[in-house]
Amino acid sequence: MQRYKKISELANLSSIKMLKVARFGKLFITLQPRNDSKMKTILTRRTIRKYADREVSEDLLNRMFSEAARTQTMGNLQLYSVVVTRSADMKEKLSPAHFNQPMVKEAPVVLTICADFNRTSVWARNRKATPGYDNFLSFINAATDALLFTQTLCNLMDEEGLGYCYLGTTVYMPQMIIDTLQLPKLVMPVATLTVGWPAEEPPLSDRLPNASFIHSETYQDYTPADIDTYYTAKEQLPENRHFCEINQKETLAQIFTDIRYTKKDNEAMSAGLLEALKHQGFL
Ligand SMILES: Cc1cc2nc3c(=O)[nH]c(=O)nc-3n(C[C@H](O)[C@H](O)[C@H](O)COP(=O)(O)O)c2cc1C
Repeated sequence: MQRYKKISELANLSSIKMLKVARFGKLFITLQPRNDSKMKTILTRRTIRKYADREVSEDLLNRMFSEAARTQTMGNLQLYSVVVTRSADMKEKLSPAHFNQPMVKEAPVVLTICADFNRTSVWARNRKATPGYDNFLSFINAATDALLFTQTLCNLMDEEGLGYCYLGTTVYMPQMIIDTLQLPKLVMPVATLTVGWPAEEPPLSDRLPNASFIHSETYQDYTPADIDTYYTAKEQLPENRHFCEINQKETLAQIFTDIRYTKKDNEAMSAGLLEALKHQGFL
């Protein structure tokens, strides 16, 4: 078992090590969908990081894109674009931006979902209208559209039996992705999905209880006793105790704050994100 690495260290890890450190907090039980669940796959969905050597057809992808496009968007403007990567060459170029996580090169398809105010602005200019979308609010609106679209796509992929992994690294070094995919101004990558037919069936990961995140009428801040109630089960999972041991940390929270998502890394990557937003004309 591998000790956790700082995000900045991950770029230097071999692909296999990265796979091990990227996985976290698995619950080794099988949850069955409740009988009253209307959505076939929601209670058994899990992230898939290993893919069979089998193509995902263009027809299937296009059908899912059409269906995901039914997602609500601001002003019905559909402020997103998707760049589909299938070629080994382009996956190779994208890989470092995702800290060389092996799924990028191993998945048959990589989707980069972008917040896109470019298309709408070009449309406006071609129709005697003056766009005013080179600002932060417009980025948030476009990012919201793009992420809602992304989630619908994930739900559809689950229903099809496809496997996928959401890569949050998209916003860690976005300029590299912008350059590789030749994204014009007012187009910003916000999410990446590696997609393929599953070649693994990992255990379901744990979840916090509803009471930990639902507030009635007003927000009730958390007491130390609440934290005990909501987090002890997660902390007591054998694999999480093991992670603490091998990383020589007293608490599970320290694995997040000191190793996985540190202040130093977050601040450095925030600076890169802000630079990229400026470069793309949103700031
Ligand atoms: C914003 C976001 C960023 C993520 N980034 C990564 C990533 O870079 N690498 C990875 O392997 N998984 C990534 N994941 C997947 C999570 O690790 C996974 O969803 C979580 O551990 C819960 O497991 P489950 O999806 O199997 O239920 C990300 C998920 C989200 C929503």
